[in-house]
Amino acid sequence: MADEIEIKELSLEYYPEIVEIHRAIMKGKVSPSWMKSIKRHLREKDVGGYVALKDGKVAGIIIGQIQGPSFGLEKSGWVTVVEAHPQFMGSGVGRALVESIFQYFREKGVKDIHTAVKWDAVDMLSFFIAAGFGRSAFINLRIKLDDVIPD
Ligand SMILES: CC(C)(COP(=O)(O)OP(=O)(O)OC[C@H]1O[C@@H](n2cnc3c(N)ncnc32)[C@H](O)[C@@H]1OP(=O)(O)O)[C@@H](O)C(=O)NCCC(=O)NCCS
Repeated sequence: MADEIEIKELSLEYYPEIVEIHRAIMKGKVSPSWMKSIKRHLREKDVGGYVALKDGKVAGIIIGQIQGPSFGLEKSGWVTVVEAHPQFMGSGVGRALVESIFQYFREKGVKDIHTAVKWDAVDMLSFFIAAGFGRSAFINLRIKLDDVIPD
């Protein structure tokens, strides 16, 4: 089935369908800031993005960002968004998108690729493991400022 998937560079013409994918995944809850962030990504340098088309319809999206020097790494690639429309999940869309962003990073000379998943997002974890990801050298730390700086 993967041979029916067409990969295109992310552009504003796909914006309504991208929002639709996110809306379908989030069961209707799409924050305005998420929508703005997609448009912002399109303007930034060191950001690569692709959509996967199936039968001319946008079936998925991926965005990757180059960072560094940061986190003690000279240059690193970060997969920040990857989503497939529920209608197309499990049909190779995510795999095709991840391969396209790997290619983007490779062309930019970035070979150290990272991502993060929510601790209970087992589907995302399985997907990234299937794509070849493993544990990174980092642990994530977090603080809620309200807990340490009173209003
Ligand atoms: C995760 C996601 C991007 C994967 O895309 P997809 O098109 O369904 O995945 P693919 O069909 O390309 O599968 C690629 C590989 O990942 C594995 N995989 C994908 N989804 C999986 C799941 N839910 N559980 C286990 N493995 C999974 C597949 O088995 C496949 O492995 P293989 O190539 O070795 O057979 C997509 O399912 C998605 O968008 N999920 C919703 C994510 C979400 O809820 N996000 C919340 C907002 S952050």
